[in-house]
Amino acid sequence: MRQSLIMGNWKMNGTRESAKSLCTAIMAGLNADDKNIVICVPAVYLADLQTLTSNSPLALGAQNVANQASGAYTGEISASMLKEFDCKYALVGHSERRTYYGDTDASIAERFCQAQAQGVIPVLCIGETLAEREAGETFNVVNTQLDAVIAKAGIAAFANAVIAYEPVWAIGTGKVATDEQAQEVHKAIREKLAGLDATIAENMQILYGGSMKADNAKGLLAMPDIDGGLIGGASLDAQSFLAIYRSI
Ligand code: PGA
Repeated sequence: MRQSLIMGNWKMNGTRESAKSLCTAIMAGLNADDKNIVICVPAVYLADLQTLTSNSPLALGAQNVANQASGAYTGEISASMLKEFDCKYALVGHSERRTYYGDTDASIAERFCQAQAQGVIPVLCIGETLAEREAGETFNVVNTQLDAVIAKAGIAAFANAVIAYEPVWAIGTGKVATDEQAQEVHKAIREKLAGLDATIAENMQILYGGSMKADNAKGLLAMPDIDGGLIGGASLDAQSFLAIYRSI
């Protein structure tokens, strides 16, 4: 039986001090037996937060990972570096990376493999734009994004990965997908995986992301193929983030 997973994506927000206080406030709302709650933080804050979270159920993630193991790749951070700071997860292919920084399906597949090679669990973000949805292309887009990673990493690699379905039109816009709209795509993703490996499909954690808030999380998380959330804006407030976690 797959477990639910709640991940915060802080994006490029905060200061060194505010990162520590937000992390502390989230931890204060957790019990020792809580699990499957993660914050993906700006990389420069990982060292501080590694120390703070060392005996806590709150796990750390990165927002990106390099597509190469090491070398002359200015500005990139390798999976082995993330591992040194106890990053359990790394987002790969977030739509903001795809849109603003030119991350391609091919480089995202490489990032996915680099994370896994170091034991960092990749969280593969996929999703369609509004124009693509309106053109009836949602399933094609999501399939193409998935296929690129399956072709490079192999379906077996998905035993140690997470998928986040994030419709681009719902990210940061306040326009959340309806429970049914999200479920329909999550189900299609699981069915696609099941065509390749039934066990991997059954165990796959497929998170929803895009304007998830405390007041809409319960409905989304109750859908049979929605196994958790990747939360941007609402993860910057400890009480909102904890309320989403508690709504599982
Ligand atoms: P949002 O962001 O919750 O602010 O829409 C989600 C994400 O980009 O992961």
